[in-house]
Amino acid sequence: MKPLPEYLPGESGLVLRRWVTADAPRLAQAVGESLEHLRPWMPWVAQEPVPLAERHQRIATWEQDWRAGGDLVMGVFVDGAVAGGCGLHHRIGPKGLEIGYWIHPAFLRQGIATAAARLLTNAALHQAEITRVEIHHDKANVASAGVPLKLGFRLMREVPDEPEAPGEIGISCEWQVRRAEWAPFPIGSPAT
Ligand SMILES: CC(C)(COP(=O)(O)OP(=O)(O)OC[C@H]1O[C@@H](n2cnc3c(N)ncnc32)[C@H](O)[C@@H]1OP(=O)(O)O)[C@@H](O)C(=O)NCCC(=O)NCCS
Repeated sequence: MKPLPEYLPGESGLVLRRWVTADAPRLAQAVGESLEHLRPWMPWVAQEPVPLAERHQRIATWEQDWRAGGDLVMGVFVDGAVAGGCGLHHRIGPKGLEIGYWIHPAFLRQGIATAAARLLTNAALHQAEITRVEIHHDKANVASAGVPLKLGFRLMREVPDEPEAPGEIGISCEWQVRRAEWAPFPIGSPAT
């Protein structure tokens, strides 16, 4: 698969951009300010704080994977400020990509996760090989459920899943949209 787009502009100052190693200190700061809000739902928070060199290395690995046509890990920027992170992941089998997202506490309830997921869904479905996009969240994570619901994803199934983060109850809600159900818009254009 050709690499996913590394730059996705939205509206109202929103930009999704692939993390680069120079972002490591800013990413560390944003994660550090978000820890308690993320801890219930994001398993990787248990490893924080990550040493700067290790964070550099992780971003370099993300870049290698992306260049090889693998996962895309992006920052969410609003007027240049780090508002969160998001990505597209090859972990739901062939022809599918799964969206992940987190938003800094200073930027919550402004529609940013929904706008980011919309840009990511559109980018994913522009790839010839991708026919479906999914969002998975633990059933206890009601904030996360609002995102696929607002975007018109369908709740396909609820399946038992080993809890990985302290807020999870172990039921994975799996939402999906298929290419035929999606109204595409040009990549690089603000989403309307
Ligand atoms: C989930 C998360 C990314 C949502 O980010 P956000 O930018 O605030 O989301 P949006 O503003 O786009 O909200 C979309 C809808 O989700 C629902 N929602 C969002 N936050 C909510 C909350 N705290 N309680 C209830 N519903 C909520 C609402 O329906 C909302 O629409 P509305 O504001 O018009 O009512 C954010 O809460 C977060 O970072 N959580 C911790 C990390 C996480 O859980 N990531 C997802 C793991 S699967």
